[in-house]
Order: sequence, then C-alpha cells, then structure tokens
Amino acid sequence: MKDPIRFGVIGVGLWGEVHAEIYSQHPYATLAAVCDRNSKRAEQVAERYGAERIYTDFRDLAADPGIDAVAVVTPDFAHRDPILAAAEAGKHIITEKPLATTLEDAQSIAEAVRSAGITFMVDFHARWNPPLAIARQNIAAGKLGIIVSAYFRLNDTISVPTEMLSWAQESSILWFLGSHTVDSLRFLFEDEVERVYSVSHSSVLKKRGIDVPDLYQSILEFRSGIVATIENNWIIPNTHPSVNDIKVNILGSRGMINMDLTNNQMIERYLEDSSDHPDCLVKPQVRDKHVGFAYESIRDFVDCLYLDKEVQADLEDGLMVTKVILALMESASTGVPVTVRY
Ligand SMILES: NC(=O)c1ccc[n+]([C@@H]2O[C@H](COP(=O)([O-])OP(=O)(O)OC[C@H]3O[C@@H](n4cnc5c(N)ncnc54)[C@H](O)[C@@H]3O)[C@@H](O)[C@H]2O)c1
Repeated sequence: MKDPIRFGVIGVGLWGEVHAEIYSQHPYATLAAVCDRNSKRAEQVAERYGAERIYTDFRDLAADPGIDAVAVVTPDFAHRDPILAAAEAGKHIITEKPLATTLEDAQSIAEAVRSAGITFMVDFHARWNPPLAIARQNIAAGKLGIIVSAYFRLNDTISVPTEMLSWAQESSILWFLGSHTVDSLRFLFEDEVERVYSVSHSSVLKKRGIDVPDLYQSILEFRSGIVATIENNWIIPNTHPSVNDIKVNILGSRGMINMDLTNNQMIERYLEDSSDHPDCLVKPQVRDKHVGFAYESIRDFVDCLYLDKEVQADLEDGLMVTKVILALMESASTGVPVTVRY
C-alpha cells in the first residue's frame, strides 16, 4: 500500500472548504495543511477537517516538505502566484477554474508548470456531469451524425455576484461560469473554437454597485464548422429553484440531444405554508459525504495521483479556455467578431 497523498489547500473560502473536506475523507489522501490570508477562516477549516498545519502565506505552504499536492482555490483573478509557488516547489496541483484571467498570468503559469514536470489539473468539473459525459459518448460514436450547432446556457442567480462572492467585480460571469461553458463545448466536440462574436449588457449589477456586465450572449465558430450559441448571465432571480440555470441543445445531421441540467436533478417540496426545491445539484449530501459531479472531479484528481492515471482536464485545456474567453471579451468591447489567438 502506498502512503496517502498529502494535500495542502490554498484559499479555504466557500469552495476551498469543499476541497478540504474531500481530502480529509478520501482513502488515498490526507489533509496536511490549509492556508488562507484570513487566519480565522484558516483555523476554522483546519479544525473542522483535521488539518495538521495552518498557514497565512501561500509561500510557506508551498515550501512545506510534508505536502505532495496543492489545491489552489483563491478567487478567479488570484490563481497565478500560488500556482507558481507550488510548481516551483515541485508539488502536483489542482487549480480551480478559470486557469487565469489574463494572458500574461496564463503564460507564466504554463511556463512554470511545464518546467516543473508536475501533474496539473484545472477543475472543469462539468466534464464529470453524467449527462454531458453521455452526450459526448454519443457524439463520439457518431449517433447524431455530423454536429451542426449547439446552444448552451449557464447562468447564476443574482445572489452569487451580490451576496456570495465578495470579488465579483474583479471577475465576471464569463470567467466564473463561461469558462465551464466553453470547456464543456470543447469537451463535447473534441474541437477548438476558431472565431467568436459576443455582446454584453450592463445595468442591473451596475445599479447594485457591482461594475461588471450582467450577461454575455455569444456565438462560437468551431474549426469543424459547428456553430454554438452560448448565454452566460449573473442576474437570474433568486427565486429560481437552483443557483444554476443550465440548458443544453446539440443538433447533428442525424439526431439531437436536449439536456435540462437544472430541473432534471431536482425535487419539489410542498409543506403546509411554503414550497421550495432543496439543493440536489450543487452540494447534496448523502450519508456523511457530499456527492455529485463537482465533488467527483476533485476526487478524480486524487485517484489520478495515487493510481498514476491521466487527468481529464489539463494545462492545455485551461490555456485554450482562457484564450477563448479573452477573445469573447474583446469582441464584446469592440463590437466585431474576433479570431481566437492561440
Ligand atoms: N463558490 C462556488 O460555488 C465555486 C464553485 C466552484 C469553483 N469555484 C472557484 O473556486 C475559487 C474560489 O472561489 P470561492 O467561491 O471559494 O471564493 P471565496 O471568496 O469564498 O474564497 C476565497 C478564499 O481565498 C482566500 N485568499 C484570497 N487570496 C489569497 C491569498 N493570496 N493567499 C491565501 N488565501 C487567499 C480568501 O481569504 C478566501 O477565504 C474561484 O476560482 C471560483 O471560481 C467556486
């Protein structure tokens, strides 16, 4: 029996806690340390999941010889420096999506990861969502014929940028969820985006003091000729049954697939004086464990390290997606189609 992989988590906010929980429970992993610049939060998560060591500077966690692998779960725009420190120390890395929010950050991450020769995964967890994985198998098997077009909508309720994330203005719906949309389409079609056209709209969030677009409506042309329409907005009403609104359509020359990825994973609860939809999509719990695709991807990274398997979403995937999102933003600000620069 090999020793379990010793994990350190950098950034233990909402999603970093999910990582900490998984490493503390996984039979092939242990949670060795957590790091957060908010020391109280680091202590809280360390105590909850039994981390042996606590850091407030990610450089100290990266230098810890008792750590084999690091999870980078800082805000979208703050992934680069922890990744560089961990890569330079030779740790394997899983980073939350997006890989980076600027080309410069993405390029320095790529250089550091390639020269370190480590195992590196970007947590594009939609790839572990069973309907998307099954759709991909059908497309690869040619069941739909030649793929012609797709529609992919991935939106959040307005509580996400206004209540959940303190740093929404420093990211955008395109980085936060659009990165999943773009990666999912690349994964489904095994193809790369060539040219994009995007239109954004800003007013609702701006009026709430968050100066970031409400939405991006975009058209993506793939190298093979597939045309995809994608919609990403951050202003769905909070009364929506789930924090995410996800709908997908894929049309081929011999068939079509429709997926309602919100409503097909939902229960309706009717009580005497209220009704609601308990969460079965983002953080459902079964026995003592959270379950679902967002947990499977992180567990799979542990399996990859322990069992020497290849990761399913790597550095190149992170780079490609970053470049497509930058092209979408350029198109939205210039008003013309943009060819993606690889
Ligand atoms: N919230 C979600 O549902 C969710 C789901 C999947 C992925 N993600 C991704 O996970 C990442 C984190 O998101 P979140 O929602 O957990 O944000 P968060 O704001 O809840 O947590 C981020 C944490 O990082 C800490 N931090 C920031 N800079 C740091 C630094 N330099 N060193 C150490 N700690 C630092 C902050 O103090 C905070 O505790 C993002 O990239 C996000 O896209 C979030």
